[in-house]
Amino acid sequence: MIHFEGATVLFPREGAEPLAAVRDLDLHVAPGETVCLVGPSGCGKTTSLRLVNRLVRPTAGRVLVDGRDVAEADPVRLRRGIGYVIQSGGLFPHLTVAANVGLLCRLEGWDTARTAERVDELLELVHLPPSEFGARYPAELSGGQRQRVGVARALALDPQLLLMDEPFGALDPLTRDSLQREFLELSERVEKTILIVSHDMDEAFLLGDRVALLAEGRLAQVGTLEQFRDAPASEQVRTFLESHFHGR
Ligand SMILES: Nc1ncnc2c1ncn2[C@@H]1O[C@H](COP(=O)(O)OP(=O)(O)OP(=O)(O)O)[C@@H](O)[C@H]1O
Ligand SMILES: [Mg+2]
Repeated sequence: MIHFEGATVLFPREGAEPLAAVRDLDLHVAPGETVCLVGPSGCGKTTSLRLVNRLVRPTAGRVLVDGRDVAEADPVRLRRGIGYVIQSGGLFPHLTVAANVGLLCRLEGWDTARTAERVDELLELVHLPPSEFGARYPAELSGGQRQRVGVARALALDPQLLLMDEPFGALDPLTRDSLQREFLELSERVEKTILIVSHDMDEAFLLGDRVALLAEGRLAQVGTLEQFRDAPASEQVRTFLESHFHGR
């Protein structure tokens, strides 16, 4: 479903060598699979995600979605087919919850009744009763509720593919646990291909069928929990696991 083929992203810098945010990334996410990108701050997780919906262009290499090079896709059509949950939530503060969730439906030209029906369905799906939450503004929600609205919005057009950038970051542990459980339930129910970002190893192995560990823009290892445990690809991976893995 998603193929990164030698994808490299260089960002120009004043008076210095360009910064290699992503280096020669080869990664395949199969249909229906959830892969979690994990690694320290600045290792290139968000940039890798944004290559898929073409918010960032590769300096070298390419990214294929469904066998097609995203560089050749119409960016608007491409993005309508890919749900994107932004790192900080990214809701429009001046729009109600219902309007935020229904935004893409309206842009697609759906009529009011069809949009309203879809919004209700999506809010139910993320456990926010529409009668209670639909008319509120983002500022009137808790952090966890805002993140659920972000997820509902990303699912609006029923995309095959979901990109989720730390959807459970910056939450207290209890809220995070319950949203993680909801995510697992949801990902079974909706059968999407999901590329999700986390900076937490425990979370990464909980949510991902496979985990892709990035370090300074490079893919250090990709695999299941067992593969990481039994055969860390390098000393660096072993050290990272030991310091960040809390033992599930
Ligand atoms: N538009 C940009 N222009 C220049 N440099 C950028 C740009 N976007 C990201 N970078 C740099 O590229 C590197 C990777 O950034 P990225 O946002 O992908 O990291 P990340 O792994 O998502 O980090 P975090 O966990 O903090 O969100 C960082 O050093 C960042 O400063
Ligand atoms: Mg990021």
